[in-house]
Amino acid sequence: MKILVTGGAGYIGSHTTLLLLNAGYDVIVFDNFSNASAESIRQVEALTDKKTILIEGDIRSRKDLEEVFSNHKIDAVIHFAGLKAVGESVEQPLRYYENNVCGTVQLCEVMAEHGCRQIVFSSSATVYGDPHTTPIKEDFPLSATNPYGRSKLFVEEILKDLYISDAEWKVILLRYFNPVGAHESGRIGEDPSGIPNNLMPFIAQTAVGKREKLSIFGNDYDTHDGTGVRDYIHVVDLAEGHLKALEKLPDIKGVLTVNLGTGQGYSVLDMVKAFEKASGKKVPYVFAPRRNGDIAKCYADPAYAKKVLGWEAKRGIEEMCEDTWRWQSQNPNGYTY
Ligand code: NAD
Ligand code: UD1
Repeated sequence: MKILVTGGAGYIGSHTTLLLLNAGYDVIVFDNFSNASAESIRQVEALTDKKTILIEGDIRSRKDLEEVFSNHKIDAVIHFAGLKAVGESVEQPLRYYENNVCGTVQLCEVMAEHGCRQIVFSSSATVYGDPHTTPIKEDFPLSATNPYGRSKLFVEEILKDLYISDAEWKVILLRYFNPVGAHESGRIGEDPSGIPNNLMPFIAQTAVGKREKLSIFGNDYDTHDGTGVRDYIHVVDLAEGHLKALEKLPDIKGVLTVNLGTGQGYSVLDMVKAFEKASGKKVPYVFAPRRNGDIAKCYADPAYAKKVLGWEAKRGIEEMCEDTWRWQSQNPNGYTY
């Protein structure tokens, strides 16, 4: 089977590509490298001893997409390509809508023209807004507080409409919680540009000495130690979820929406302690005011994923921290050697 992986050179895409190659799929990686390096795919190919078809292209370009679909018979698409920085999306909403929403529209149009109507889409737990209770189930109310989150909600709705218009479409919406960790080899991982917005890369860069200290945003939340609680999920578990989704696609009718999380919530302080233990390094921190838009607690009810995909996360917090540390300490500057 031939799978098109948009955004396949990125953090989650590269880990998923590695697993797809190992499972015997033919993989076309399609990426504009706006937030990735082709080095990730070179590493994936070395680790698997298999080749991808690596294409530099943009999902907003009909010409780029036409070329791929004309030259290859693609069975299904895993659609990771997108911009993902919340703060940036508030400053540049049109750029986010153009890339994430218009790009997906182009992709779906070209897919339909070429008779490919199976897609797995990267959605996010951000679509639950500030949930009234936890754990979060797939049927909870949806809302968004920023353009990034709204771009995910819009695409979910667009894909549902597509199925209403044409029952041939098969769509799986995967709502990720907080992806962390890296492949156990330490050769691929998350390589954020500039100052990381997310907790785990910030902790890792502090431990390796690139950042002076971590600012913990808020210590007065209604949680066990006052700091924010999230559902951190190992990126390889997440990648395995995509393989399960791909296997499931041909059997579903319409649109399937699934949380990918562990069901376990950890606080910022829990993560700092676990990382210090895994790395043997101190992570200096200070408490700072709450970050705008942050919520106290967010973790998944993962029961539906187990039921419909036969998938559950296997890797715990120790492995998440150890693997992040291996990647960070072996590649302090990410993919730029
Ligand atoms: P990433 O930035 O590492 O990967 C996204 C990839 O898409 C990058 O390689 C980038 O170069 C590429 N890309 C962006 N716009 C493109 C375009 N117009 N055409 C072609 N390629 C383009 O991010 P990631 O963490 O791997 O996230 C993958 C997907 O999962 C994204 O859609 C993201 O919104 C979603 N997601 C991520 C998280 C997270 O915390 N990492 C959580 C929930 C959802
Ligand atoms: C953020 C995004 C969310 C996105 C998710 C994954 C916001 C408001 N939300 O979620 O839309 O889907 O990333 O990409 O940006 N923290 C610190 N110090 C730091 C960084 C984070 O204390 O330097 C805390 C946060 O307050 C939070 C936790 O760590 O309690 C996790 O933060 P982060 O990794 O940014 O993820 P989310 O806030 O869950």
